[in-house]
Amino acid sequence: MQGKTAIITGGGSGFGRETALKLAQRGVNISVVDLSKEKGEETVHLCEKLGSDAIFIQADVSKVEDVKKYVIETVDRFGKIDLFFNNAGISGSGVRTLECSEEEFDTIVDVNLKGVFYGLKYVVNEMLKTGGGSIVNTASLGGLVGMPTLGAYSATKHAVIGLTKTIAGEYGRDHIRINAIAPGTNETPMVKAFPAEAIKAMADAVPMGRLGQPHEVGNVVAFLLSDEASYIHGAVISIDSGSAAL
Ligand SMILES: NC(=O)c1ccc[n+]([C@@H]2O[C@H](COP(=O)([O-])OP(=O)(O)OC[C@H]3O[C@@H](n4cnc5c(N)ncnc54)[C@H](O)[C@@H]3O)[C@@H](O)[C@H]2O)c1
Repeated sequence: MQGKTAIITGGGSGFGRETALKLAQRGVNISVVDLSKEKGEETVHLCEKLGSDAIFIQADVSKVEDVKKYVIETVDRFGKIDLFFNNAGISGSGVRTLECSEEEFDTIVDVNLKGVFYGLKYVVNEMLKTGGGSIVNTASLGGLVGMPTLGAYSATKHAVIGLTKTIAGEYGRDHIRINAIAPGTNETPMVKAFPAEAIKAMADAVPMGRLGQPHEVGNVVAFLLSDEASYIHGAVISIDSGSAAL
């Protein structure tokens, strides 16, 4: 993967950061895209320590002008886009689905669905100019099954899987390889802040009896983006301790 260029949205934390570090170890140039300047710049710093050429681009993926900006700035700096981890997303306030406010529902759709769509629209356009590329969209276990109290989130993640499969059918012959991941609950900073008994209950509910670690997702994404996964296309890869299988 040496010398390739990747864009990672939501690169300031969690799965985005862990994937950035994995790609940095493999000599990939990285555009870290995030709303948070502080978190994004920290990821850039960590990538640079691993020898990667990395830049931070502050952007809100739900705003189409910001998406165009991160694509243009990446091409200006690195000349092309080979790899795209279309990952930034938000969850929800955890109320019963029909009690979710219209405003909250709109925000979740804007970030999790429109943000993913805008990214695909403008990144694929660039990849077509240089002969193709590889893309991973972040869905969720909640994109495969319902998630009580996270209805808007679950609906958008189902939609991300629909976009992934459809675009796979449309762009495979253009050498654009596209897949989705469906992670279960991971010990990200947000989950770590829950009370210990809540974390234990979540861990007890999954077949392996523990929550996932963000680097376990980063490992899979780096593989899917690489040529080692050259015949995996239009797939939804569960990373969830077997939760989707039950
Ligand atoms: N953590 C889990 O257990 C879990 C499970 C399944 C799926 N996911 C999905 O994985 C993805 C990453 O989650 P994570 O756990 O690494 O989260 P995280 O909160 O650790 O990181 C998300 C990053 O995205 C950034 N971000 C949020 N909204 C943004 C926006 N509008 N524009 C640009 N950046 C934005 C945040 O600043 C943050 O740095 C999300 O799509 C999430 O839905 C997470």
